[in-house]
Amino acid sequence: MAFLSPMGRIGALVLLTACGTEATDPDNTIESVLDTTKYVMDTHSNALPNEAVITHMDLDITVDMLAQQIHGTAAFDIQATTKQIVLDTDGLTIISVTDSTGNALVHSLGDSTLLGRALKVDLPIGIERIKVEYSTGKNAKALQWLVPQQTMDKEHPFLFTQGQAILTRSWIPVQDSPGIRFTYSAKVKVPTELMAVMSASNPQKRSNDGVYTFQMEEPIPAYLIALAVGDLAFKSIDDRTGVYAERGVVDKAAWEFADTGKMLAAAEALYGPYRWGRYDVIVLPPSFPFGGMENPRLTFATPTILAGDRSLTSLVAHELAHSWSGNLVTNATWNDFWLNEGFTVYFEGRISEALYGKEYAGMLQQLGRDDLNATLKQIAESKHPEDSKLRLDLEGRDPDDGMTDIAYEKGAAFLRLLESKVGRKKFDAFVRDYFDRFAFQSMTTDMFLVYLDKELLAPNNVKLNINAWVDGVGLPPDAPVPVSDLFAKVDAQRTAWVAGKPAKELQTKNWSAFEWMHFLRHLPKEMSPQQMNELDKSFSFTRSGNAEILSAWLEQCIRNNHSEGYVRLDQFLNTVGRRKFLVPLYTALKGTDKGKILAQAIYLEARPNYHSVSVHTIDELLDWKNDQPPVNF
Ligand code: BES
Ligand code: ZN
Repeated sequence: MAFLSPMGRIGALVLLTACGTEATDPDNTIESVLDTTKYVMDTHSNALPNEAVITHMDLDITVDMLAQQIHGTAAFDIQATTKQIVLDTDGLTIISVTDSTGNALVHSLGDSTLLGRALKVDLPIGIERIKVEYSTGKNAKALQWLVPQQTMDKEHPFLFTQGQAILTRSWIPVQDSPGIRFTYSAKVKVPTELMAVMSASNPQKRSNDGVYTFQMEEPIPAYLIALAVGDLAFKSIDDRTGVYAERGVVDKAAWEFADTGKMLAAAEALYGPYRWGRYDVIVLPPSFPFGGMENPRLTFATPTILAGDRSLTSLVAHELAHSWSGNLVTNATWNDFWLNEGFTVYFEGRISEALYGKEYAGMLQQLGRDDLNATLKQIAESKHPEDSKLRLDLEGRDPDDGMTDIAYEKGAAFLRLLESKVGRKKFDAFVRDYFDRFAFQSMTTDMFLVYLDKELLAPNNVKLNINAWVDGVGLPPDAPVPVSDLFAKVDAQRTAWVAGKPAKELQTKNWSAFEWMHFLRHLPKEMSPQQMNELDKSFSFTRSGNAEILSAWLEQCIRNNHSEGYVRLDQFLNTVGRRKFLVPLYTALKGTDKGKILAQAIYLEARPNYHSVSVHTIDELLDWKNDQPPVNF
């Protein structure tokens, strides 16, 4: 368990192998570092998997949509070398813990910390299976219970879960660490007018009795267990892919995601067979706090990517790519998060390039780099400037707070640099072998660096300042610079407008959503009311049905005090709960005196519509106190 301190052992090992010297310390050989039979210490879980670990879960739960509570049992197969197993819980009521014959087992719940409460269960000799009966608490962090008014069809309630990073423990008592994998089955009872789907084999039709059964036959970590319950319909795209959504949205979703099968084929051509059977996407109500979540077999997605023109579907490529980077080879701890997201952004770019060409992928990269630069600036000025390292140290903190664009964009930039050093052919072979060699296993940054050196850098005689990339702050100077000719053209049009050319005369024909996003994000810092009016009159931004374009425009409205946009802003913030949109908008509001008051007023009303992860972030951003009185104007 005393695995590696950041850079301790590995630094020495990389040096040794680089000099061609055989490492002699048995703990320090390449084989021992790449040995995945021992669990790595995860500071964000109470579990002690090297002592006792779960290998399979059978979940049997009832979802009470009215009481907004889940009640049932989670039974586990266990492998133990000690007489106790520790599970994670957060806000759960533990009703009983029994062995497979129903005998009560001695158990206790530890103190409540950032990690929730440890559930310690005594394991008399010979006990290899336990069953925990439990119910979820009020405000369970993973769960968002929606009343009909918060759904798109406005007729039925809805429930969805969000497990990543450490929220699964708030709806299932489980060893909630990305390094611990297990298979699962589930029996879920819901009201008969609703349908349940999970990150597992899924129904395509409503059952008569409201009972649904699921199997996940590949071992996955707890953060990838997911459930959604609502008035869902299914529509197939092709024989391997399809969409779930509320009835009124499913046709639109199927049209938007028509290319999903092609994305899947492109991904397989790059990095090997898809190992999960079907790949479906569920479009959730607008309060879903993320763009997408890569729950295996069933990506959870925000409806804000239903732009009506397929312009935002690279998000599906991203979540699909996680079927390899993240779900197949998984970050062992949240400090290694960049291994999940950096690889996925890189892979997303390659899928996008295969389907839509280099120009498209170039725009994606440029947008990502702009995001990265903004994040770097913000982190440099924050309480945690070390968060711009790829290898994080999140001990003692909520991991969600340190999981930023760094992992995504600095991570992807690092991989693009590696690609540029050895060429695409060798790099692709390396990545493909990496996914095969470590399939269904966890990966630490240390292990990756050893494997990288052994399989790619040393054989190709590549010298790189790996340390600057992995354990240094900021973006190293050898980062590849994205280029986009299409964005250069957008820049030329914007410059012409700033110099006085009327907006109506700009050459914007055939601009994609990405080009509009780039245009909007790079407008001058200050614009006059006339300029704002001219832009809106010419391009109808306030009425845009594309959430990326709309949110970029609303941010400009706030910064330039363009009150014509405020009705739409209020409506947007009251329906959409996607954190990526909320953060820049509330941040912009916070920047002006009038905006500050407006932010408080809007948030007071909107807050009950957001999922706990968004609430957590915006509470902190706005310095929100729970008992905030309503703001008077
Ligand atoms: N796994 C992430 C979402 C996530 C990250 C949840 C950290 C909890 C903690 C997912 O794959 C993701 O990255 N989603 C992005 C979309 C993407 C295209 C960058 C998002 O939600 O915006
Ligand atoms: Zn991701």
